[in-house]
Amino acid sequence: MRVLGVNAIFHDPAAALVVDGRVVAAAEEERFSRRKHGKRPVPFAAWELPELAAAWCLEEAGLRPDDLDAVAYSFDPGLSRDAKSLGLDDPWDHLRLDYARRAPQFLAAALPGLDPAIVRFVPHHVAHAASAGLSVPEDNAVLVLDGRGEVAGHLAGAYRGGELSVLRTQELPHSLGLLYEDLTRHLGFLHSSDEYKVMALASYGKPRFLSLFRELVRPTGDGGFQVDRIDWAAMAKPRGASEEMTDTHADLASSVQTRLEEVILDLARWTYEAAGAPPTLTMAGGTALNCVANARIAAEGPFERVWVQPAAGDSGTALGAALAVTGEPVPFGTAALGRGWSDEALEAELRRAGLPYTRPASIAEEAAKVLAANGIVAWYQGRSEYGPRALGHRSLLAHPGDADTQTRMNDVKGREQFRPIAPMVRAERFADIFEGVYPSPYMLFVHNVRPAWRDRIPAVTHVDGTARVQTVHQDSEPLVAAMLAEFEKLTGLPVVVNTSLNTAGRPMVDTPREAMELFGSAPVDLLALGPFAVHRGKAFAA
Ligand SMILES: [Fe+2]
Repeated sequence: MRVLGVNAIFHDPAAALVVDGRVVAAAEEERFSRRKHGKRPVPFAAWELPELAAAWCLEEAGLRPDDLDAVAYSFDPGLSRDAKSLGLDDPWDHLRLDYARRAPQFLAAALPGLDPAIVRFVPHHVAHAASAGLSVPEDNAVLVLDGRGEVAGHLAGAYRGGELSVLRTQELPHSLGLLYEDLTRHLGFLHSSDEYKVMALASYGKPRFLSLFRELVRPTGDGGFQVDRIDWAAMAKPRGASEEMTDTHADLASSVQTRLEEVILDLARWTYEAAGAPPTLTMAGGTALNCVANARIAAEGPFERVWVQPAAGDSGTALGAALAVTGEPVPFGTAALGRGWSDEALEAELRRAGLPYTRPASIAEEAAKVLAANGIVAWYQGRSEYGPRALGHRSLLAHPGDADTQTRMNDVKGREQFRPIAPMVRAERFADIFEGVYPSPYMLFVHNVRPAWRDRIPAVTHVDGTARVQTVHQDSEPLVAAMLAEFEKLTGLPVVVNTSLNTAGRPMVDTPREAMELFGSAPVDLLALGPFAVHRGKAFAA
């Protein structure tokens, strides 16, 4: 069965292709269009489809639109209602529904040859649920938390033998995702985009509004929750994008973050009981990208194992919608589902650009040497990642032992200085240095850095002694593992700083040409493009 999944409704348009029980390709539209998040998160952008990503998915599989058995669209307009009756203040919401209803015709126009009759609407939260619950082989409880779907802000369910039973949904306007989006907006950031910045900011504050939020945001004891109307300005004045961040802003972020964690824990416990106490919880929805909350659920919740879909935001509903239509578990093997280039194609790009390059015996050793000398490496290897995290395919790497690395990296990328940078670690050495969820190959949990190591890897140790770790496993990521092993040989540190290969406000680098553009425009010492090395000193000699 050949199913193309499409997310287009709210934000982060994406496409994914599942063929005969295998995920052949999955990618966000932003990697093609070079517009961060693909489009604006507004109702009148709902018509914008992931045209380029969808066309590429088909090309990657050597299929034409008329070879598809189904197209799965991750929203069902037939289940939704007008915004007013949902308690939402959104005068344009009817446009979203209208565009969604016409999605089959729009898709047929975008993918010539496609029969609009094969387009199927998959409920938004069912798509999120499938992206997580059908990505593990075992039966599981599933928790979806995001801003909104058709009429709900959450779904709790159970997968048994690939079948979803929905145990509880919480109707709008009550939504933990919308609560966090409102906070993000109030703090002067871009909602549906910068929520992870709020999470980072929260660790600088004290939860001094927590008792108030315990009244305003509360579980109802039956798997649901209530969120009252919140007078944000009464606690902290709204911040303009370029205005100063105060302690009160950080305290507000800390209070909401803490309450979010408490409520999700409550929902997780309820779901565990209602699902019949399965060992595994799977999670998806944009709120499941909150790796601080995820770590608490893993540590304090009742489940033995918590698995979070790496593309937990709306882009992941492209994959989830396709899986929901096929109805079969497809264990998630790798996030490297995007575009990749052959060595020959990479070399041709380097020649075309006129860059002096070499092909060292080992690109892993070459990169480790530059990193050990405190250089910055643009690491471009294999297929790009599906989801918001760079996981060693489109990564910017640096030395973790230099406290200035965080400032340098944030400068290279033009980011706010309070933003932490994350470590990748050899799986074999994880337990010596960190505590928390293991394995953690997709950076979806925070971990504690053991006290003895905090001074040795200051660049990746956040102000609260935590780090968002990616564990690197020899069998799944041999090249990254080799680079880390070589770096450890040179420095005694099995940890390297890993951030996404992009500059501020831009989507992650996808093509080799974009990698070279970044290399030319930022103080990066080595471009490791597949097996090829381009050193800054040689490329830009005075
Ligand atoms: Fe969503």
